Amino acid sequence: MAQQEEVFKKLISHCKEYGFVFPSSEIYDGLGAVYDYGQNGVELKNNIKKYWWDSMTLLNENVVGIDSAIFMHPTIWKASGHVDAFNDPLIDNKDSKKRYRADVLIEEQIAKYEDKINKEVEKAAKRFGETFDEQKFRETNPRVLENEAKKEALHTRFAKALNDSNLEELRQIIIDEEIVDPVSGTKNWTEVRQFNLMFSTEMGSTADGATKIYLRPETAQGIFVNFLNVQKSGRMKIPFGIAQIGKAFRNEIVARQFIFRMREFEQMEMQFFVRPGEELAWFDRWKQTRMRWHKALGLGDKKYRFHDHDKLAHYANAATDIEFEMPFGFKEVEGIHSRTDFDLSSHEKFSGKRIQFFDPELNQSYVPYVIETSIGVDRMFLSVLAGSYFEEKLENGETRVVLRIPAVLAPVKLAVLPLIKKDGLPEKAREIMDNLKFDYHCQYDEKDSIGKRYRRQDAIGTPYCITVDHDSLTDNQVTIRYRDTMEQERVPVDQLKQIIAEKLSMKHLLKKI
Ligand code: GAP
Repeated sequence: MAQQEEVFKKLISHCKEYGFVFPSSEIYDGLGAVYDYGQNGVELKNNIKKYWWDSMTLLNENVVGIDSAIFMHPTIWKASGHVDAFNDPLIDNKDSKKRYRADVLIEEQIAKYEDKINKEVEKAAKRFGETFDEQKFRETNPRVLENEAKKEALHTRFAKALNDSNLEELRQIIIDEEIVDPVSGTKNWTEVRQFNLMFSTEMGSTADGATKIYLRPETAQGIFVNFLNVQKSGRMKIPFGIAQIGKAFRNEIVARQFIFRMREFEQMEMQFFVRPGEELAWFDRWKQTRMRWHKALGLGDKKYRFHDHDKLAHYANAATDIEFEMPFGFKEVEGIHSRTDFDLSSHEKFSGKRIQFFDPELNQSYVPYVIETSIGVDRMFLSVLAGSYFEEKLENGETRVVLRIPAVLAPVKLAVLPLIKKDGLPEKAREIMDNLKFDYHCQYDEKDSIGKRYRRQDAIGTPYCITVDHDSLTDNQVTIRYRDTMEQERVPVDQLKQIIAEKLSMKHLLKKI
C-alpha cells in the first residue's frame, strides 16, 4: 500500500507538471478540494465526455440529451429530499481538531480487515508456489477466518447503523473498533452529527427580499423537471432516457485524494424512464452496459468490480457502484440506481403538475420508474490516468514515464517531429501537420534530441509520433513510433491518414460496448 501511495503522489505531481490538473487559485495558495484542468487535462476530459455522450445518444435511439441550468427553483431540492436528507455523518477528534466522516472511518476499518486477509493469502501463495489452492486456504486458515468473521460482523453492524440513521451507534462502532485519528493518534472523539452538503447562495437583491437558492448537488434533478418537456417535444415513448453532462457542487467535509472528492465537479448522468414493475430488469441491463463501457477502454478487466449498496438512498430500491482500483484501493467511479418513481411523484406533489405518461399499449397513465446511471467525469479522469501511468526501465538503463491512455482518449493524438530543424525537414513536417490537424489534435515539436521529444510525448500519453527525416524528402515516407511498444514503422505519407484513422476510431471503441 505504501508503494501505491508513493505512485499516487507521483501521479499528482505528474498531472501538474504536464498540464493535466492544477490546484485552483494556486497563486493564492489554492482553494480546498477545487481544481483546474490544464491544456492536456481539458482535452482528456472532453474526450471522456464525448465517449460517454456518444455511447448514450448515438448507440441508443431512445436516449436524448439536454443541458439544464445549474440554478433551479429552490423547491426542487425540497421535493428531491436534498434539503432534509442530503447529509454526511461527521465526527471530530478533540485533540487534532480534525473533522472526519464517521462512515468513511468505518469503511477504512473494514478495508483494513480485507488487507490483512489479502496479505495472508499473498504470503501463502509465495510459500506454496504452484501447488497453492487459494480457495481452500481462504476456507481453512484460522487467521483468514478470524479476520473474515470480524469484517463480516463489522459490516453487518455498520449497515444497520446507516440504515437506521443511528448516529450514536456509528460513534460506538468507532469506539469499539478502537479507531484512532491518523493525525493525533488518539481516540478522543466527539458525538456524530449530520451535516448538509448543499452550497447555497442568494438570487435577487437583498432589498427586494432575495431568494435562497442552491448550487445543484446532482444534475439529475434538471432531467426530472424537464421530463414532460422532452417527452412531449420529442414525442418520446417509454422506455426512453435523457442524458446530461454538467457541473455539480457539494460542500464535502472530508475532501481528500486529489480530484476523487471535490467541492465542484462534473457529472454525466442518464435517467432512463420505464414502466413500473420493469425497473429491476432495466437496472440489470444498464449495469451490464455500463460495465462494458468501462472495460472497452482496455485498462484491465480486473480493475473493475460492482459494489452493491448497504444503505439505499432515500429514493432507491436497488443500487450498485462500479468501482475502479485506484492507487488508494477500489473506489466508486459510477453509481447505478433504481430510483423508483420517487422523484417524478415528488415533483408532481410539490409542483401541482401532473407528471405522467399515457402508455398506449397498456391504455393507462402512470408515473414512470427511473433507472439512473451517474458517473463523475473527474473520477473517470482519475481512473484513466491511474490505470495508464507507468514507470518503465528501458534497455539502456534509463526510466521512462509513460501514460498508456487509450488512444481515442489521448489529449494529443499525434506529434509531428522533424529529425533536425533544417534542410527542409521542418517544412515537410509542417505540410504533414497541416494535412492532419483538421482531424486530430496534433503537436509540432522540433526542440531537443528526438529521444527527449519521444519522452515528452510519452509523458502526456501521445500514442503516435511521426518522424520526418532526410529520406522523407525523397521517398515521401515517414516513421510512426508507437508509444506503448516503442516500435517504429516506415509508412508512405499518403497512407498516414488512413492508418491513423483506423487506430483512433471512436467507432471501434463504441462497437465493443
Ligand atoms: N444523481 C445521483 C448521484 O449524484 P452519487 O453517487 O452521489 O449519485 C454520482 O454521485 C457520481 O458522481 C459518483 O459515482 C462520483 O463519480 C461522482 N461524485 C460524487 N461526489 C463527488 C465529489 N465530491 N467529487 C467528485 N466526484 C463526485
